[in-house]
Amino acid sequence: MKISLAFSDSGGAGSPVVLIHGFPFDRRSWDAQVAALRGKHRVICPDLRGHGASPVAPPPARMDEMAGDVASLLDRLGIEAAAICGLSMGGYVALAFVRLFPKRVRALVLADTRAGADSPEGRKARHDMVALVRAEGARAIADRLLPKLLSPSAPPAARELVRRMIESTPVEGIVGALLGMAERPDSTDLLAKIACPTLVICGTEDVITPLAESRELVAKIPGATLVTIPGVGHVSNLEAPAAFDSALVDFLARA
Ligand code: MLT
Repeated sequence: MKISLAFSDSGGAGSPVVLIHGFPFDRRSWDAQVAALRGKHRVICPDLRGHGASPVAPPPARMDEMAGDVASLLDRLGIEAAAICGLSMGGYVALAFVRLFPKRVRALVLADTRAGADSPEGRKARHDMVALVRAEGARAIADRLLPKLLSPSAPPAARELVRRMIESTPVEGIVGALLGMAERPDSTDLLAKIACPTLVICGTEDVITPLAESRELVAKIPGATLVTIPGVGHVSNLEAPAAFDSALVDFLARA
């Protein structure tokens, strides 16, 4: 199903950067990065299908379809190629984008994500969450996920924003993403073929996509570099924006 994504566009003459949010967030999660990149890059932040102000499509929301939505958005904006940065589910979408549209990726940033598919237990947990959100709504998903998304020392403002984003995501948007993630393919074989400059970022306290996953990405993507952010959990861009932004700005200046 064709979807026209809601998005923000900082404009400006710099090289384009697309920031792809995680599950179940929206483009607000990138506000600090948009501010840090302003004047240097044209920053585009989509709301993935079923999230933020974008339309909800019937589930599942496959990673390939989400990547296709991002490609259509770039077409609409007349952007042929961009640096693509995705956090967590946004990283799964970024990997799908590289597989489908390798020539459109100038540089790649994979934050707190992994290449592998879900394990059978992981898939079952996704289906349990589908039942939970349909029965009890997005607030129950926020209650379930918040302790894992951020480290105990995360700033209260980050915690509040994460809750607000989750609670404002439509139930069927959450269902679509859960089912889409559950059936996403393993991208490990793709890694050796990635030919653009690649940065991997990970919070050392990430319990959803632990540091070992990032180390595997870096070991398999030619020339990739790893930046770890000590003491920080899964949503590293919100929990430690200064460290995240400095890694991002530095990498994009060299990429
Ligand atoms: C995310 O933060 O996007 C999700 O936690 C990723 C996942 O559940 O695999």
